Amino acid sequence: MNNTVIAIDGTSASGKSTTSKCIARKLGYIYVDTGAMYRTLAWYCLKRHVDLHDDKAVATACQKWKAKLVCVDNQVRLLVDDYYPEKEIRSSETSAAVVFVAAVPKVRAWMMKTQRDCIKFGNLVMEGRDIGTNVFPETDFKFFLDASLAERHQRRAAEGVSENIAERDRRDSQRATSPLMIALGALVVNNSGKSIEDTADFIVAEIEKRRRK
Ligand code: C5P
Repeated sequence: MNNTVIAIDGTSASGKSTTSKCIARKLGYIYVDTGAMYRTLAWYCLKRHVDLHDDKAVATACQKWKAKLVCVDNQVRLLVDDYYPEKEIRSSETSAAVVFVAAVPKVRAWMMKTQRDCIKFGNLVMEGRDIGTNVFPETDFKFFLDASLAERHQRRAAEGVSENIAERDRRDSQRATSPLMIALGALVVNNSGKSIEDTADFIVAEIEKRRRK
């Protein structure tokens, strides 16, 4: 398939979601939040009392769950038993649990296949931690968002979520399978003190520049 993928990776609370949605709107692309997929599995495991520290149990849950991709209003959603746990996946409990399921190699293999499948919906703006390094390494459009820790803390606090984002970044960066890292050829964008609109405009301009080359 010849659809385009814009890969937006970055640290926790670096504005990946809002910026990616804005870019997708500007380009008329479909938005994919891969973090939401990992969060959905974490929520599912918590609900089913799967031991998050038992990799085998988590992998089995991931291989057996009834999860399905749908595209609604230009956004991809992962449904479980036809349910979209939109609010539940943002809780502090799910945020604390997600790094454990995300470190399981079989989970990552399942996620990668499912995320690559999203291309069937059309051109994508896909955000996460390993899109440029692992899920769509072949794309020419790779970006890595970051902002100061203080600003990222403020953003989460404004959303009413209290969590240790530095610790989540540490775990994401240090896991053995597809850790959080800057992809080869990715442009690092530090958006401290910048608006979402400005960051999105900057990235869209960069995409257009690369297309002209
Ligand atoms: O982006 P968000 O904060 O919702 O991601 C939640 C968690 O999901 C991350 O901290 C990380 O553990 C995991 N994740 C990942 N790979 C991705 C997207 C998210 O490991 N591509």
